[in-house]
Amino acid sequence: MKRQPPRQIVVVDSAAELAERAAWRLIERVSGRERAAVCLTGGSSPQALYRLLAQAPWRGEVPWDRVHWFIGDDRFVPESDPLSNMGAARRLFLDRAGAPRRNVHPIATDANYPDGAARLYEDELKAFYGADRLDPARPLFDLVLMGLGGDGHTASLFPHSPALDETQRWVLGIAKAGMAPFVPRVTLTFPALASTREMLFLVDSADQREILSRVLGGEDLPARRARCDGDLVWLVVRAAAPER
Ligand code: 6PG
Repeated sequence: MKRQPPRQIVVVDSAAELAERAAWRLIERVSGRERAAVCLTGGSSPQALYRLLAQAPWRGEVPWDRVHWFIGDDRFVPESDPLSNMGAARRLFLDRAGAPRRNVHPIATDANYPDGAARLYEDELKAFYGADRLDPARPLFDLVLMGLGGDGHTASLFPHSPALDETQRWVLGIAKAGMAPFVPRVTLTFPALASTREMLFLVDSADQREILSRVLGGEDLPARRARCDGDLVWLVVRAAAPER
């Protein structure tokens, strides 16, 4: 069986502190590298972090020319739609901070259908990585951000979906989302998400307390199945953290 590195849980006092800690972790992961890759997430939990990245002092610390931005999942809507995850990331920080356009890698949600977009994105990731197979010793990403949905989903990997068991494909089209918004999705699979030096879950709200305790308690929910070739870190606000 593949060795799973220990999971680290970092508890912080507030959502504002969570965003700051996440921003510094991101900067640390992308600094000093010739080329860095970050896989962003959607939903509400990364939004404060995204805003910080466009502001001082964080903005000045990101080597924008050398960082490439991908997205772990997206809703199959145009980027101008408020539901678009990459659209939100662009509005909240990528455009404001002046990230070079060639460094931003959206999922082609204007393709004909989600699985077509998934194949295009898989090709793009493989071209960026420079190989068709992931080598645990050479991760695809430097940092993968992850969220935790109310049903235990992460990225667009929903409970009971066959996508949870995917071992070959890097990206999949998801015809039916398990939770609102009920639009088709495109998602990276667990093997692709695992190929990172750090996977960072962001849990920023007291509403996530119950689902987080189920995940950390070992229930077979998608977020629990997430694996990582590097460090697996949960950054959690105290109001959502399990009692000690
Ligand atoms: C999406 C997200 C999803 C999200 C969780 C948590 O496209 O819906 O990528 O996986 O991270 O649903 O959402 P919140 O951050 O809004 O709690």
